[in-house]
Amino acid sequence: MTTAQTSPVLIGRTTELVALRQAWAGAAQGRAQTVSIGGDAGVGKSRLLTELRPDVIASGGLWVLGTTPAQAAVAQPFAPLISALRSLLRSVDQPRRVAVIGPARAELARLVPELGDSATGPAAFDQMTGSVGRLFELVLDVFHRLAATQPAALIFEDLHWADRSTLDLVDFLARNLGGDRLLLVVTYRTDELHRRHPLRPVLAELHRLAQVTSLLLPPLTRDEVGELLAVLTGAVVADEVVDRVCERSSGLAFLVEELAAAGLDLDGIPRGLQDLLQIRVDTLAPDVADVVRAVAVGAAACTVPDDLLMAVTPMPAADLARRVREAVSHGVLTTGESGIDFRHALLREVWRPTCSQASARGSTRPTQPRSLPTREPRTTRPSRRGSRSIGARPMTCRGPRWPRCRRDAPPAARMRSPRPPTTSCGCSIGGATSTTLRACSAMPGR
Ligand SMILES: Nc1ncnc2c1ncn2[C@@H]1O[C@H](COP(=O)(O)OP(=O)(O)OP(=O)(O)O)[C@@H](O)[C@H]1O
Ligand SMILES: [Mg+2]
Repeated sequence: MTTAQTSPVLIGRTTELVALRQAWAGAAQGRAQTVSIGGDAGVGKSRLLTELRPDVIASGGLWVLGTTPAQAAVAQPFAPLISALRSLLRSVDQPRRVAVIGPARAELARLVPELGDSATGPAAFDQMTGSVGRLFELVLDVFHRLAATQPAALIFEDLHWADRSTLDLVDFLARNLGGDRLLLVVTYRTDELHRRHPLRPVLAELHRLAQVTSLLLPPLTRDEVGELLAVLTGAVVADEVVDRVCERSSGLAFLVEELAAAGLDLDGIPRGLQDLLQIRVDTLAPDVADVVRAVAVGAAACTVPDDLLMAVTPMPAADLARRVREAVSHGVLTTGESGIDFRHALLREVWRPTCSQASARGSTRPTQPRSLPTREPRTTRPSRRGSRSIGARPMTCRGPRWPRCRRDAPPAARMRSPRPPTTSCGCSIGGATSTTLRACSAMPGR
């Protein structure tokens, strides 16, 4: 059986694609629109966007794509704008280039040196007081001139990695494009937006505007995962395999593809994928990682009630809550009514201690996270699709649950259980009761 790397057909996303096409239709008629597409890493934001491209080209529009470099230590000022301007320059011939860039040439050359001689270099706009506002006006004028000759889709991908000035520019453009034949589309990862991420307030403001449409992509449903697997493998996939892939991938298309490419191995994690998942692990501070390890022992069997976590991590509740919050904002853990868990099953698998590690400790009741088995940080290796860190919302796939996972048991039932929850290795993780941690770790906006 040959497995395709990606599906030639878009699975699901009917409503979102209709909304995107409508936005383009409005923009092409001179009512500038903005669409934000959010969703977890690998859920299919770029793919949805790509489906619009043929429509734009067929209706005589220009596709202007600006990308943001992944996970740079310091975000390059205006990276998506620079990338978009280069995309624009590549797409139009010289006379039109001159006309569209017009009087902005000398100043835009500070960002895109190939536009002309620049003595000051690409970062100059960020350092010159007052010049950012002028740059915004110049950019707006460029897009006014472009749209006067041809409708265009202007895309800024992966804004979660963009610098603050780019976010301000997006806000400025969304408010000021007005009657232009322009569709502005921005994408961002929801699982990268920790509580103080600068994109959060920008999105909140944008979403109040009438000309802005917000699309939040949920994970693929269980049936959609089945459809995707069938297309990728070219065969009907057994129900139990679909269930397992759905549970492990949390309906994230990228993870479904990776698992399919690995031959639908029901238990192992493909090496490249494991490395990608490890990136998320490696970003945690050591004290936060300790708590995640403690959750890993319990979450091997089910969601860990927060009072059980308190029992096995002897530290002040506020300190534990802070660490849990950190792990949540890094997209590793998730908190809910039932307690604390990993954001998706594959992450849980990466963190899960092996039985030999657990029994080597010679204890069935760990009392400190530090005493739990540890994973050495590993050097990460790019997968076949390059750098991508993964995190996801809790599983929303519909259909039968994987039988080994008893997450559907009501929390209250677990709490009243005569025996405390055990790991898959048979280790008890504690049995105290308290609701302090839940109160401390309640997180707004996640
Ligand atoms: N609805 C879908 N139908 C078929 N394939 C899909 C679908 N959604 C995504 N894919 C495939 O899954 C992979 C990941 O999708 P994509 O790159 O669009 O995710 P993303 O949300 O943009 O991720 P990132 O946050 O890393 O940019 C791609 O190979 C894409 O073709
Ligand atoms: Mg993408």
